Amino acid sequence: MDLGIRGKKAIVCASSKGLGRGCAIALAEAGVDLVVNGRDAELLAKTAQDIRDRFGVEVIEVAGDVSKPEVQRALLAACPAPDILVNNNGGPPRRDFRELDRAKILEGVTQNMVTPIELIQAVIDGMAKRGFGRIVNITSLSVYVPIPGLDLSSGARAGLTSFLAGVARTVIDRNVTINSLLPGKHDTDRLRDPHDAGTPEDPATAAARKARISADVPAKRLGTPEEFGQICAFLCSVHAGYLTGQNIPVDGGLYVSAF
Ligand SMILES: NC(=O)c1ccc[n+]([C@@H]2O[C@H](COP(=O)([O-])OP(=O)(O)OC[C@H]3O[C@@H](n4cnc5c(N)ncnc54)[C@H](OP(=O)(O)O)[C@@H]3O)[C@@H](O)[C@H]2O)c1
Repeated sequence: MDLGIRGKKAIVCASSKGLGRGCAIALAEAGVDLVVNGRDAELLAKTAQDIRDRFGVEVIEVAGDVSKPEVQRALLAACPAPDILVNNNGGPPRRDFRELDRAKILEGVTQNMVTPIELIQAVIDGMAKRGFGRIVNITSLSVYVPIPGLDLSSGARAGLTSFLAGVARTVIDRNVTINSLLPGKHDTDRLRDPHDAGTPEDPATAAARKARISADVPAKRLGTPEEFGQICAFLCSVHAGYLTGQNIPVDGGLYVSAF
């Protein structure tokens, strides 16, 4: 399917690996020029070059923590009139909620609620004026289903979800949509022990780990960043202009509900 977005411009936050990278790749495959982002400049450069080589689109790297105002300014300077914004970040670490002091709670809220709102504030009026805009937030299935130890992530992202539910209805008449994708269990470093993430894993150990994690998923496997990215790209396509304010689990059936 031609997504109809060739030549459009996207800012994809936190996209040097994992789900953000999956979204960046799917958009590049559709012919979208990108601004990519991540804190590790070396990894980011590698991802950017890979995307350039594979798809021939323009890819600008903006290294840094997306929650920092100067990094947000740099993202917007690199792409002053984006057609597409994918909000993403790393997500807070697993922690008993009793261990969270005020600074840690505010940090989680800043990363997972304030940052995407700030970026949306910066781009939404331009999108509305130009008559095309697609905003996709990568949140989490934990917005629907509490996950022990990820209470801060769930709370901040649920706040973002409610905040944007109203905002989405104010711009759809100018062909600007705002939707969220809720990952369930995907095959990224996020699901590995933070101490091991990024290092190669013995194939047998990896297979056993993935089988254990996906045992309760009806699909009986982890999702891939590639298939996640394709769903994101469809939401960003010209075909998805009548779909807004939605929170879509991408979870292999893990979220059990008739509605
Ligand atoms: N994977 C899953 O199954 C799953 C499930 C539910 C929710 N999620 C959520 O989906 C999001 C993406 O997860 P993932 O699995 O793709 O994680 P991942 O594989 O660890 O990738 C995270 C990406 O974000 C970048 N990043 C992290 N913090 C950042 C920051 N503050 N500013 C800019 N870039 C940042 C990382 O690069 P640097 O480290 O170099 O910055 C990396 O490119 C997270 O918010 C996560 O909580 C994932």
